[in-house]
This record gives sequence, structure tokens and C-alpha cells, in this order.
Amino acid sequence: MKTLFLLLLFCHVSSAVKHSLKIFRTGSSGVPNLSEFVGSLEVDGSLVGYCDSNKNIVEPKQDWVKKIIEDDPQHFQWYTQECFQSGPNIFKVWINNLKQHLNQSGGVHILQDISGCEWDDETGEVNGFNQFGYDGEDFISFDLQTLTWIALKPQAVTTKLKWDSEEARIKVKEIDLTKIFPGLLKKYLVFGNSSLQRKDLPSVSLLQKTPSSPVSCHATGFYPDSALMFWRKDGEEIHEDVDHGEILPNHDGSFQMSVDLNLSSVTPEDWRRYDCVFQLSGVKNNIVIKLDKAVIRTNWEKSSDMTVPITAAAVVLVLIFITAVGLMAYKKKKAKCPPSPPDDGSELSEKLNPET
Ligand SMILES: *[C@@H]1O[C@H](CO)[C@@H](O)[C@H](O)[C@H]1NC(C)=O
Ligand SMILES: *[C@@H]1O[C@H](CO)[C@@H](O)[C@H](O)[C@H]1NC(C)=O
Ligand SMILES: *[C@@H]1O[C@H](CO)[C@@H](O)[C@H](O)[C@H]1NC(C)=O
Ligand SMILES: *[C@@H]1O[C@H](CO)[C@@H](O)[C@H](O)[C@H]1NC(C)=O
Repeated sequence: MKTLFLLLLFCHVSSAVKHSLKIFRTGSSGVPNLSEFVGSLEVDGSLVGYCDSNKNIVEPKQDWVKKIIEDDPQHFQWYTQECFQSGPNIFKVWINNLKQHLNQSGGVHILQDISGCEWDDETGEVNGFNQFGYDGEDFISFDLQTLTWIALKPQAVTTKLKWDSEEARIKVKEIDLTKIFPGLLKKYLVFGNSSLQRKDLPSVSLLQKTPSSPVSCHATGFYPDSALMFWRKDGEEIHEDVDHGEILPNHDGSFQMSVDLNLSSVTPEDWRRYDCVFQLSGVKNNIVIKLDKAVIRTNWEKSSDMTVPITAAAVVLVLIFITAVGLMAYKKKKAKCPPSPPDDGSELSEKLNPET
């Protein structure tokens, strides 16, 4: 049992990082005030560039992209060509074909696709992908193994058959997904390394809306978006009564997420057996917060049945303390480790017990 637990812990603490390049394209017809074609490019979940065919803009969104463009005007031309010519034209043709085929004479229609690749910087493994959605539903996706299209709904079968027969386009798609995009991703990771390859640890706190609500373990301010968060009981990850939220972007380019734990069937004595763990991909130390009534942030007045009355100021102080400990540990770790091997699974454990 113990060995299994250690193994699991070790797996969680791997330092491999998966990088991703994602290109989003949206073509529309009949939508007032929406450009016929907009595109965006993300690396590791960060917006790198954006374009809008009607407004005639191609915009680098990060300083290091501007530098690439200064050094290499052709790179910029590739984007303007995609955004102002090939993209809008091909999306217009596709939407018209789909409308015809689906007997849709007018109305509002939106065709979107996402393409790109993932790259594991440890194993070197690359996965390319391309998928289309039509009017908000998954429509068709490309299978790199068989070099064929997969219809994701019955209405897409005709499109699949047609696209499967377009050999030249399939060849281009294969080269994009296996060579061009991975090359672009690696180039961007080099040029944008100080911003893209940074690691920011979040501040993690426990929140509860009402005394009977689940306790939410909330992490905000982390980067990149490859992170795991989970609840443990007696040191082992639990799934029951746990509700995982999605990873969401913050306005400053960092990310947030929360994981809720429903404690309705847990007795107060058992609370101390639980903790919440946050792991950032590529960072050795986890952030661990013990479940403790004293550190939960709430909106309601703490009632007098609490053994130790805690003022809001004390809670805030504790939270500042958590953040400071987290930052100090992070800086320390950062200072002593250029390329760090996977470690023994040591955890940055914060003991939050203002009562003692
Ligand atoms: C669309 O644009 C027109 C003028 O360009 C404006 O009057 C209208 O309010 C806009 N509609 C929406 C929903 O933004
Ligand atoms: C479109 O209309 C034609 C003729 O009215 C019909 O044969 C065909 O099945 C329709 N297609 C779809 C996808 O509804
Ligand atoms: C980014 O790359 C430059 C040049 O290749 C290198 O000197 C620097 O250490 C890198 N920074 C990071 C954070 O990897
Ligand atoms: C928590 O679990 C209890 C039963 O164990 C259930 O009745 C309750 O609806 C759950 N609360 C939430 C918010 O899911």
C-alpha cells in the first residue's frame, strides 16, 4: 500500500513539460458586426497573435513576437497572407458548400477550426491535431495516423468523403501538423522563452460560500496552464465528493482553477485528515494546504460557536503568510536549480495553525 502511494506521488512529480501551439480560425456568414474571418494563435495557452480580416489587422500580442517580425518580415507576410487571403477565402467556400449541402439558404452560420500540435520536451513526442466545428457543434476532425478525416456527426459524412479525396490538401495538412507547426512552436519557445517558459506559482486559498457549501480550494496566478490540483485524505488522492473546475485564464495572462470538496458527511474531527495539493508542470515542489476551519475564507460572520474567534484581519495575515512562504520556497528552488532532475517528491507543506 505504502509503495503504491509513493509511486503515485512520484508520478505526479514528473518534471516533463508539454508545450502546445494552437491556431483558432473562425469564419462566419450573416453575423452582424462579426468579421467574416478572425484568427488567433496561442502558445501554451498564451495569446501570441490575433487577426481580423474586416478590420484589416494582424496583431502580435507579445513583445518577443514583434522582435521575430522585425528580424524576419517573411514571417509576418505568412500571417497576413493567411489572415487576409487564404483564410477568409477558404472559409467562405467551405461555409457556402456546407450551407448548400445542409439545405441552409440563409441565416447565421459559423465555421471554426482549431489546429496545432503538442510537444513533450522530454520525450520529444509530437501530436498534431485539426478539428472543425460548425454552428457550435463538433463536425469533422483529421486523423494523422490514417491521413483521413473523421465525421463527428452524420451530416459531416459527405464533407469527409470529399475532403478524403483531396490528396494534395491532405499532404499539406500532414506537413503542417508534423513539421511546420512543431517547428513554429519550438521557434516561439526559444524566442519567447523568458515569458513563455516562466513558471509562476499561484496563491492558493480555501473558500466557502456558506457553512454548508463545499470547500473550494482555489489557485490563482499560475503559469503555464499545465497544472494539477486535487484533494487528499490521509495523503491519498480522493475522487469522491470532489468537483474539478476548469482551468480559466486571468486578465494578466496567468491562470486560475478550483477544486471543490463536499464535506457534508465529514465529521469536524476528520477535517484535519484532508489537504489540497497544487502541482505545476515542471516544478518540483507542490503547494499543500491543510483543511482547517481557521484558514477558510468566507463571506458569512463566523459564529460564536467557534472555539477560537478569528478576525478577518487574522485571516488576511495568514493568507499573506501562505503567499510569502510559497514565494520564498519558490525563489529558493528557482535559485538552486537550472535543469533539475525529477526529485524525491518533496513537498512544500504549509502548516497553517494560528491556534497553536
Ligand atoms: C453593429 O454595428 C452597428 C453599426 O456598425 C451598430 O449600430 C450596432 O449597434 C452594432 N450592433 C451590435 C450588436 O453591436
Ligand atoms: C436537402 O434537400 C434535398 C431536396 O429537397 C433533400 O433531398 C436532401 O435530403 C436535403 N438534405 C438535407 C441534409 O437535409
Ligand atoms: C532564453 O534563451 C536565451 C538564449 O538562447 C538564454 O540565454 C536564456 O537563458 C534563456 N532563458 C530561459 C528562461 O530559458
Ligand atoms: C454534498 O453531499 C450531500 C450528500 O453526501 C448531498 O446531499 C449534497 O447535495 C452535496 N452538496 C453539493 C453542493 O453537491
